[in-house]
Amino acid sequence: MALLNRISSANIGIFFLILQANKTRYMSGKITFTMIKPDAVADGHIGAILGKIAEAGFKFKALKLTQLTEADAKKFYKVHAARPFYGELVEFMSSGPIVAAVLEKDNAVEDFRTLIGATNPADAAEGTIRKMFARSVGENAVHGSDSDENALIEAQFHFSGREIF
Ligand code: CMP
Repeated sequence: MALLNRISSANIGIFFLILQANKTRYMSGKITFTMIKPDAVADGHIGAILGKIAEAGFKFKALKLTQLTEADAKKFYKVHAARPFYGELVEFMSSGPIVAAVLEKDNAVEDFRTLIGATNPADAAEGTIRKMFARSVGENAVHGSDSDENALIEAQFHFSGREIF
């Protein structure tokens, strides 16, 4: 019995060490968070967009098809609450299914923002995801975190610890 107790407390110790190591990894600039937005899902672009993300060298740490409630969208975009487009943004982002994903790569946040292109597809560079798949500045196909800190917050908004690998 004493031996069993020793083994299980050793296992618990290892479990917490792994959790700590994972947390440190997430905080060291290697992850970003993305959503394929309702326009691109409705337009049938999930496969093409996931393919471009993988081809660019990002690894999928978490992935799911889901839908935001109006309350979820208000909370996720609360930083934009004072903007004139906030109501439109919340309505659009909760209007249909999205794909949420946590991505891993060195320099993930910056490299992903380069891959997706400017917020307005009219200003986005050729070959970027928004240039290829977005409808407009409001319905712009994909979201990408704007900082390492927000990547972590946004990943945890959408995924529980056991959904991130
Ligand atoms: P994203 O950068 O993912 O998060 C904020 C979103 O607000 C942005 O994508 C656009 O979809 C949206 N947005 C930004 N500017 C405008 C605008 N002028 N009109 C409508 N939506 C906008």
